[in-house]
Amino acid sequence: MSGDAFRAALRREPAPHTPVWFMRQAGRYMAEYRAIRAKASLLEICHRPELACEVTLQPVEKIGVDAAIIFADILLPFEPLGLGLTFTAGEGPAIAHPIRTRADVTRLKPVDPDTDLGYVLDAIRLAKRALNGVPLIGFAGAPFTLASYAIEGGSSRNFAETKTLMYGDPETWHALMDRFATMVGEYLAAQGRAGADALQLFDSWVGCLSPDDYRRYVLPHSRKAIALAKAGGVPVIHFGTGTSAFLDLIAAAGGDVIGVDWRVSLDDAWRAFPDRGIQGNLDPCALFAPMNELTARVQDIMAQANGRPGHIFNLGHGILPTTDPGKARAVVDLVHERSAAPV
Ligand code: CP3
Repeated sequence: MSGDAFRAALRREPAPHTPVWFMRQAGRYMAEYRAIRAKASLLEICHRPELACEVTLQPVEKIGVDAAIIFADILLPFEPLGLGLTFTAGEGPAIAHPIRTRADVTRLKPVDPDTDLGYVLDAIRLAKRALNGVPLIGFAGAPFTLASYAIEGGSSRNFAETKTLMYGDPETWHALMDRFATMVGEYLAAQGRAGADALQLFDSWVGCLSPDDYRRYVLPHSRKAIALAKAGGVPVIHFGTGTSAFLDLIAAAGGDVIGVDWRVSLDDAWRAFPDRGIQGNLDPCALFAPMNELTARVQDIMAQANGRPGHIFNLGHGILPTTDPGKARAVVDLVHERSAAPV
């Protein structure tokens, strides 16, 4: 059972083969997803558990990955918080009421994941049943990455507004981060209770910080979120990009498995946290390379992991919308072939 491989790797136990899944594996690169998206907006799919469940299953069936990730978005909690969330085609997320002052933080509404985000928990329960033993990953945005969207009002290139608040009004910064840490930790714990087999914290943009800023402004809050998430006993995968300069600090936040991108080699990363699992780290653009080059890159990652228990093969960041699903399938097959124990 391929589910055994993922569950074993989460515990750093020997697995029948290296498990593999892809961040953002349910999405626009798949015709099956686009067909549903033609009838419903991103938020509608998220809000309707039967649609979210259907999309969650697509890459398991089509690409053959060892785990599913529940279809949702890290920004969904912005709706009950009262920040006003919309997605616009081509431009990404837009937040109607960005946070800039202490009063903006005070105005945030309390969020109870069981009721305010109950539709995600319902989707998890549905998908869990439909997956028939294939592991299901729940997820949330990490406090820093969420704060960056809440403050900037959308996506950002240099995080100037985020750092303006962080450096200029550290008290408000920490108040906001503490709110988000509690909310995210409780939300992840609720996803674990609903049936998720692992919980991934996405700190997608944390690599814009220096190690010292990470330690001062982010680490205590990510640590709190992870501790709350882990209270139910479900393992936590802590993912970030651009973190090679402070992998020790990322590990100090407490995740069971650390997700890294292609800017760091797996063996260097593992030296920084020998007592954790590791997830990664193929460049998503490697899927645009010719098959012989892609194969060499997959093999190189397998060689770095060297059969060590606790490796979950993944990309270093989300799969890109222009990816050929056939190439994604080829990577899954390659990882399975190259890691299968001889019989
Ligand atoms: O991985 C999966 O298959 C589950 C689904 C998933 C989505 N978002 C659905 C989605 C996951 C895990 C996410 C996480 C997410 N959302 C992150 C962290 C991961 C990362 O890539 O860094 C972030 C930063 C977001 C916020 C977000 N959502 C942005 C910036 C955008 C617009 C940019 C884009 O890719 O279009 C989204 C939209 C979004 N979320 C889409 C999907 C499938 C694409 C839009 C659509 O289908 O209309």
